[in-house]
Amino acid sequence: MHPMIAHPAEALRGTSTVPGDKSISHRALLLAASAVGETHIRGLLEAEDVLATAAALGALGANIRRDAEGWRVSGRGVGGLAEAERVLDLGNSGTGVRLMMGLVASQPILSFFCGDASLSRRPMMRVTEPLGRMGAEIWARGGDRLPLCVRGSATPLPIDYTSPVASAQVKSAVLLAGLNTPGRTSVTEPLPTRDHTERLLRHFGATVDVEPLADGGRRVTLEGQPELSARPVTVPGDPSSAAFPLVAALLIPGSQVTLTNVGINPLRIGLLETLEEMGARLSRIGTTDDGGEPTCDLRIAAGPLRGVDVPEVRVPAMIDEFPILAVAAACAQGRTRMRGLRELRVKESDRLAAIAAGLTACGVVVRAGDDWLEIDGAGGPPPGGGIVSTHFDHRIAMSFLILGLAARSAVRIDDGSAIATSFPGFRTLMTELGGNINDVDDHQDL
Ligand code: S3P
Repeated sequence: MHPMIAHPAEALRGTSTVPGDKSISHRALLLAASAVGETHIRGLLEAEDVLATAAALGALGANIRRDAEGWRVSGRGVGGLAEAERVLDLGNSGTGVRLMMGLVASQPILSFFCGDASLSRRPMMRVTEPLGRMGAEIWARGGDRLPLCVRGSATPLPIDYTSPVASAQVKSAVLLAGLNTPGRTSVTEPLPTRDHTERLLRHFGATVDVEPLADGGRRVTLEGQPELSARPVTVPGDPSSAAFPLVAALLIPGSQVTLTNVGINPLRIGLLETLEEMGARLSRIGTTDDGGEPTCDLRIAAGPLRGVDVPEVRVPAMIDEFPILAVAAACAQGRTRMRGLRELRVKESDRLAAIAAGLTACGVVVRAGDDWLEIDGAGGPPPGGGIVSTHFDHRIAMSFLILGLAARSAVRIDDGSAIATSFPGFRTLMTELGGNINDVDDHQDL
């Protein structure tokens, strides 16, 4: 346990660069390992989740190393992975384990997967079910949980899969299984989710068709068994990490912050849209489309926010940002309503419950249902002063530390150790901008 405390802060000032995008980093490694030749990746996120994926790919025979300019991956070509001699431990990473399961499902190798306590509680059937239809054999604890074992198919079959959940992880697992499958593998998603897999598949030379559907969903189709060739990849800054200093700068009076090189893929920026509707003053400067993903610098100035209703169709585009949106909502004028949040129950923690409990501990009025949250904003700094349980969830930990910077009294979290899974430099970056976040002394009682 690593208890931490955030104290009310004076205006934040300065320019910072957030680390590389976690989703894109996992995918860059997975596809580079499946390509022929050496891929050079710049800006890879060097956090526990991504390093776990790199280690697992190494165990499957890819050669992955870091040099002065970034990471180099010598791939094994589509279908070329070797059977690992050890269990693949993906730590805390749902993306890592689910995408990796897809990749091995269509290769004739046996793979054993495990993860930490949080990952071992998360549902895997959403991925094992379609992968089973493609011919993989999978044995999972309780039928749905890690540890699990995948015997990949030597003769995989393409499927046309309709996913019941809007999940980029499910879509990506099926598409990655489709790589070593003859014919066309399709996934239909009920709402569009982040499309980094599709973009990177094309970047490495695969053919991917995307068909928008009349009901708002999308059908994505991959031509199987492409020749993937090594291509340089530049990973932009993670908008989900940028969300923390961004919201802090909006909430703390007098703040002026610039965050450089932030990814602004349209399927990731639901939080920016919502904050703008709440009245946030954000400028996007110098938009570029380097290497297939749009990026820009974000300039943020503090200012009052008002409560809004978040449209349900926007949920996938900000699925990881509800904890930090809840913090912004707690400081806004009026009520913020969020619906369609069922998936938050199965993230690194039950985030819906963790948000509600944390806000209540900090004196914020919040109501939670099965799949919804309503927050009555204080119209300025909320009381704070609480001790928040993070359930080893990095985004709950960072969100409530930001609340501590913006509240009237300091906020403590019981454990900040999960922050290293996605944003190891979080505290340093916030401190450089003027935030006051510290470790709680071991002998100080929580
Ligand atoms: C991710 C997809 C999302 C998100 C997760 C990363 C990805 O999960 O919550 O942090 O990289 O594909 P779902 O697609 O399961 O909603």
